Amino acid sequence: MPDNPAHTNSEPTGKKRRALLLYYSFSGQTSGLLNHLASGLKEEGVKISFIRLRPASPLRFPVGSFFATFRMMLTSSLRWRVAIKEPEPELWADNDLIILAGPTWSYNPSGPILDLIDRFGPRLFKGRTVLPLISCRGYWRLHWLGLKRLLEKCGADVPNRIVFSHPSPEPWRTLGVFLKIAGKAPERSKLIGRYYQRYGHSRQQLREAEKLGAAIGACLRKGESPAALDLLTPIALP
Ligand SMILES: Cc1cc2nc3c(=O)[nH]c(=O)nc-3n(C[C@H](O)[C@H](O)[C@H](O)COP(=O)(O)O)c2cc1C
Repeated sequence: MPDNPAHTNSEPTGKKRRALLLYYSFSGQTSGLLNHLASGLKEEGVKISFIRLRPASPLRFPVGSFFATFRMMLTSSLRWRVAIKEPEPELWADNDLIILAGPTWSYNPSGPILDLIDRFGPRLFKGRTVLPLISCRGYWRLHWLGLKRLLEKCGADVPNRIVFSHPSPEPWRTLGVFLKIAGKAPERSKLIGRYYQRYGHSRQQLREAEKLGAAIGACLRKGESPAALDLLTPIALP
């Protein structure tokens, strides 16, 4: 596989910018955000490629029982890796920015993202600008700090982060996420449904992801770093 030349921002600003959207999504929330972020990036003329990480043994959402949900939460709190299939060769293409996106699992990056970093991290991220995107129900800080440390150990520049949390209030969103993973429909329950109308991110947040994509795209177009952008907006993190 080819080596990755170190990324530099010194190219002329008229050059077409490229971004790789590299992600894992278990229940579709990260992919929804990324599709909208990509629309914003495209508005600014950024060329996008998507690579979705796929577990070698497919994970089924919902997992189907309370026991399986507890087991998944326990194994992810121990940072068990979920082995992924070999990603597409476009992984090694030269990009100006890599957006590494995925859900929080028990305060950590998800198992497939951890496996990607273990197996390909140093070769893939060395000298690259990497912007993590986190989709979570609300508890993302440990995930962010741990992920930043892992990426920096691989030699990446991690100038900022995008984080979206579910807008439903507590304790309903924690209960709702648990029930949803187990295969229930809490939004249709007479009691819980009064307080919990929807699993995951809102339409307003998807529109916000598009705006953030355009802001990041404008930085790329001008050859500027996204470090100074305020990406943790009240809509993304209500
Ligand atoms: C096993 C597991 C553990 C989770 N742990 C957390 C957590 O610690 N903090 C949090 O905010 N959300 C947690 N969540 C919720 C997900 O991060 C959230 O639903 C996210 O939007 C899912 O994104 P996805 O559909 O792209 O997988 C967890 C979900 C799963 C499946």
